[in-house]
Amino acid sequence: MSSNVYEDAWSTVVKSSTMYSEGCRRGLEAKIPNYSIERVLVVGVGGSGIVGDIVASMFDGYEVLVHKSFDVPAYIGSETLVLAVSYSGETAETLRAVSQTLSRGISVVGISTGGRLAKLLGWERLIAVSSGLEPRFAVPEMTGVAYGLLCKIFGVDPTNFLEAVRELEQYLRSVGVEDFRIVEKLVDRIAVCISHTHLRPAGLRLKAQLNENAKHPAYYVEMPEACHNEIEGWTDLSKFFYILHRSGFEDVVVKEAFDWVVEHLGGRGGEYFEIVVDASSKVAELLKQIAYADLLSVSLARRKGVNPFSLTTIPLLRPRLRKHRPKFSQQGD
Ligand code: PA5
Repeated sequence: MSSNVYEDAWSTVVKSSTMYSEGCRRGLEAKIPNYSIERVLVVGVGGSGIVGDIVASMFDGYEVLVHKSFDVPAYIGSETLVLAVSYSGETAETLRAVSQTLSRGISVVGISTGGRLAKLLGWERLIAVSSGLEPRFAVPEMTGVAYGLLCKIFGVDPTNFLEAVRELEQYLRSVGVEDFRIVEKLVDRIAVCISHTHLRPAGLRLKAQLNENAKHPAYYVEMPEACHNEIEGWTDLSKFFYILHRSGFEDVVVKEAFDWVVEHLGGRGGEYFEIVVDASSKVAELLKQIAYADLLSVSLARRKGVNPFSLTTIPLLRPRLRKHRPKFSQQGD
């Protein structure tokens, strides 16, 4: 594998601060109807679906819900705006959810490069993002757009977000390959990514990035729920590498649980690593942990000699799902 793919993947992640801020500017400037709504339901799956998790975490106190499925919930109506995120605009689940939303007369806006989503919605209801990336590498731009749009809808000042993005930029200047030596322990083990509350999206992102970029088995576990089931199954620790997303803003209960996990694993020879970043806000902490997750997945891909940009198994399934996309009878699709 040419080392260029790893350098390209690494430098794309390093550009994420610019992608967040540029995306936010575009979201704020988007010419969309002046919706009067109480709730935003973000639909989308995979790399696009994580955008919903990230903005929902950042818009704590607002009704921003995430729905990763082929439909929309029965309880939503005209008080809800559906925000459909699909980088390709070709994803069966998202297109079906949008089609159902439209047929129920519910407002919908999309974030995409185009595809069938643009046909379904029309470009006037779509905020276009830069093309030419793998969806998961476009997450910072799509998140920025979604964040800007939500600021506009709920009347929120984006200043704190943009400050967090500047903090991310400095952080990204300071990290190097030496910060990812843990790949040596991770390479032969199944990753278990454990996170909580505002860092939930960082754990989900790490799991998905290890899966897709590094072709690595990885699972997501949420605190404090894991304390009531998951840990009972920790009988053979030797197969696993536990990655703990620690926070400077941990609630006492979460801190207690994490501290116990560290003692428990440490006392039994379990391999674990705590991701800790300095941050002045929860939003900055989340952005930095996501960037760390991205770079860790690229580092593991390099260690394993696999291409972080290409997918091998997901494309085997896609044609089966795509048969179920909504039909466009006029265009003969
Ligand atoms: O990162 C990826 O390539 C995938 O997880 C895709 O995001 C997923 O298959 C959905 O595609 P899209 O983001 O184009 O809707």
